[in-house]
Amino acid sequence: MKTFLLVIFATAALSATTPVTFAQDEVPFQNQIEARQSFMKIYRFNIGMLGAMAKGELPYDAEQASAAANNLLAASKMSNGAMWPAGSDMNSEGLEGVTWAKPDIWTNFPEVGEKSRALTEALESMAAAAGDGLGALRSNMGAVGDGCKGCHEPFRASKD
Ligand code: HEC
Repeated sequence: MKTFLLVIFATAALSATTPVTFAQDEVPFQNQIEARQSFMKIYRFNIGMLGAMAKGELPYDAEQASAAANNLLAASKMSNGAMWPAGSDMNSEGLEGVTWAKPDIWTNFPEVGEKSRALTEALESMAAAAGDGLGALRSNMGAVGDGCKGCHEPFRASKD
């Protein structure tokens, strides 16, 4: 598993030399940027369900909690390097207001990979615990949230 996870962001470096372009793109790398933002929205949807249960805004349901946690885990293991081609950061020509990915991502691959792995590790525990009751779910929320924040703080700009 470790080796596989290492590959996730390593492939981003590879795709940097051969970025795929799509004829229908209106802005550079539109397809890749939309894909990665959708990927993040999948995270948000599933963590939102867990968060709502943890806060008591949604009744705890073991099956739904477990499904959401496993979706997060599966998403975190999805190879997504091709969605991050070099030149698709927020400072690139034409991409202001389109992407919030900081250029530092492309100069810090080892660190981005570490952040990615930290999230997967937190999600392994969450996926194992989410179906075991509200207490178990709650005790894993912080680590998962930190897994998201741990990458957003250095590598994603705020939209406001
Ligand atoms: C390894 C780094 C990394 C991790 C881990 C990570 N994100 Fe992100 N996230 C980003 C980057 C970079 C962007 C900006 C992407 C862009 O605008 O092109 C982003 C953007 C987002 C967005 C905005 C998407 C949009 O439509 O503009 C949401 C929502 C989001 N992340 C949720 C999450 C959640 C929830 C988690 C944890 C379960 C998470 N992210 C984990 C790097 C990460």
